[in-house]
Amino acid sequence: MPAKILSGREISAEIKDELRARVARLKDQGVTPGLAMVRVGEDPASVSYMRQKEKTSAEVGVFSQTFVLPEQASQGELLQKIDALNRDDSFHGILVQLPLPRHIDPRAVIEAIDPLKDVDCFHPINVGKLLIGEPYLLPCTPHGVWQILLRSGYSPEGKHVVICGRSNLNGKPLFAILIQKKSGANATVTVCHTRTPNLADFTRRADILVAAMGVPRAITADMVREGAVVIDVGVNRVEDPSKKSGFRLVGDTDFDALVEVAEAITPVPGGVGPMTVTMLMWNTVVACETQTGLSGN
Ligand code: GUN
Repeated sequence: MPAKILSGREISAEIKDELRARVARLKDQGVTPGLAMVRVGEDPASVSYMRQKEKTSAEVGVFSQTFVLPEQASQGELLQKIDALNRDDSFHGILVQLPLPRHIDPRAVIEAIDPLKDVDCFHPINVGKLLIGEPYLLPCTPHGVWQILLRSGYSPEGKHVVICGRSNLNGKPLFAILIQKKSGANATVTVCHTRTPNLADFTRRADILVAAMGVPRAITADMVREGAVVIDVGVNRVEDPSKKSGFRLVGDTDFDALVEVAEAITPVPGGVGPMTVTMLMWNTVVACETQTGLSGN
């Protein structure tokens, strides 16, 4: 039987409904969650991602504002902007879109954001809190993966989760979420990476396999145990002359083949992708509730 398709779009819509209600209750108490987004330059992918974030903010009732600095802006100018936003009570969340131009150090920028407003959950304080099991916010894409599993009836409790990829953005924080001694987590987690020999020996032992290595269609059907749940975090552009844009998006798994082997699988697009922006809204609402002492629940 073909795999169940785990629709990030549907789960995302469900979470957005919940957030809309929570935002409405905050507004009743006189507060609107605010999200400040900063971009340096006009990288086309960043422009497109930020438009999506603005659109989703409007959908759930979050006030968002995008600030654009010119490509040549100095690191000092960007840090000044962050400092002003840190002090501005109308913004509960601050996001600086990555990647930044090469003359700016992303670590210095991330560390300049007030940890209370760090809705990406990239600040070392928030990453540390997550690791020790006392999270404030959760990083958006790994949180999206977790919510897909929980809301589809595939709780990681007691399961063997194999994560392929060790990035600070995805693999490492997902590991930190799933190993916690906490209801809905409690997984046994193996993290594989580019220096893992015989990768398939690990992936074949996964109850839940997460592909997050950024390599198009790297996980093939022979690498997956029959009945496994597969989450594909990959977003890769591959050339496709039949498309007007000249490209299409594929994940890190060979979806067409895996659909015949897996119990359930996320598609690309429409799987993990839509969850990321929704979880950013979740964090903005939590940040607002924390900073104001109000509750939307
Ligand atoms: N660039 C690509 N993904 C992200 C993200 O999740 N947050 C930020 N700040 N920049 C990104």
